[in-house]
Amino acid sequence: MRPFRATVMTTNHVVFFDTTLRDGEQSPGCSMTTQEKLTMAHALEDLGVDIIEAGFAMASEGDFAAISTITQAIRKPRIASLARAKKEDIDMAARALQFAERARIHVFLASSDLHLEYKLKMGRNEALDLCGDSVRQARAHCDDVEFSPEDSTRSDRDFLVEMVRIAVEAGATTINMPDTVGYSTPEEYGRMFGEVRARVPAIDQKGVILSSHCHDDLGLAVANSLAAIEAGARQVECTINGIGERAGNAALEEIAAALYVRGDRYGLSTSIKLDQLYPTSEVLGQLITFKPSPNKAVVGANAFAHESGIHQHGMLANPLCYEIMTPQLVGVAKTHLVLGKHSGRAALRHKLEQLGFTLTRDELQHVYYRFVALADRKKNIYDQDLVGLLPDSIREKRHVPVAELD
Ligand code: KIV
Ligand code: ZN
Repeated sequence: MRPFRATVMTTNHVVFFDTTLRDGEQSPGCSMTTQEKLTMAHALEDLGVDIIEAGFAMASEGDFAAISTITQAIRKPRIASLARAKKEDIDMAARALQFAERARIHVFLASSDLHLEYKLKMGRNEALDLCGDSVRQARAHCDDVEFSPEDSTRSDRDFLVEMVRIAVEAGATTINMPDTVGYSTPEEYGRMFGEVRARVPAIDQKGVILSSHCHDDLGLAVANSLAAIEAGARQVECTINGIGERAGNAALEEIAAALYVRGDRYGLSTSIKLDQLYPTSEVLGQLITFKPSPNKAVVGANAFAHESGIHQHGMLANPLCYEIMTPQLVGVAKTHLVLGKHSGRAALRHKLEQLGFTLTRDELQHVYYRFVALADRKKNIYDQDLVGLLPDSIREKRHVPVAELD
């Protein structure tokens, strides 16, 4: 494995750690072949993510092969493999990463009593020993080691602090504190970062990066991630379209857009190329069995669509009235003024103009009544439907070929 080359990050830079290919893939309908993972990894590289968690080497031969393949094809982002706090997992992760230009072994071990007692049947002292040993084992392979105390947010705080202290002492370069079951609230999650940082001075002394990893069981994953960033986390773990275990992980596109659009508040830089957000979301949607829901922030089909007359009128007057970012910022071609029963005359006139029909005020009024009656009966109004509403006298004046209609 090539030696570690420290990446100098200013404290104002947020590292994006994408786990679409690991945590994201762990959800129903999202499994990908090695070839599909490679396609996604190229899209993530184009997007500008700093780290790609390519899989869990020990989980399956397929995961091992995917990680190894990705390390040989992707050069810019660092490539990570997940490993349990077990020697065989860590060795396997190191083998899968052996060709990486820049590698990371990501070791995790539960820190909550619930997980220790019921899942691992292990006492606290044993877990602390294992934490130190496994981070040292990983460091023997790789200079970049992340340690995650799983279920951090439901862990006894003193014990969590102790585990983090041991991991840092053993050589962890990133400490990731996951909200494994999406239980935390933004204020609580941010406070946890502040407290752990204050109680483990070696974090700052050694330049260890704190990282957030949030699940969306209460719909708070992105809010929690931003709270962690505000509390000093400089790595954020997330997935494209927010896919992941159960209700999913924090959505990369939402965090990246929030940091940019609310730059006035956060004042932080990232390496994400925002105009690749939508294209990357599209690539993922084609590889797995579902696309983001239409009302999904940033990349959903309705994220830049307006139907109500009041909104459409405002949009036509000045898009800032109802859009906090341009669609082009995130790689969406344009805003859609969707015609439906809530639409007004301004949008209808605009659409008909686009189709090549210029109507007088009276003509528009006449067509508008017919349009509203149709929209009451029909969920989707297509260009052909609109043309069908026009009297022959107007239709004859058309100057757009039929082929251009949708
Ligand atoms: O949610 C979680 O706790 C995880 C860890 C393995 C990092 O995915
Ligand atoms: Zn997770």
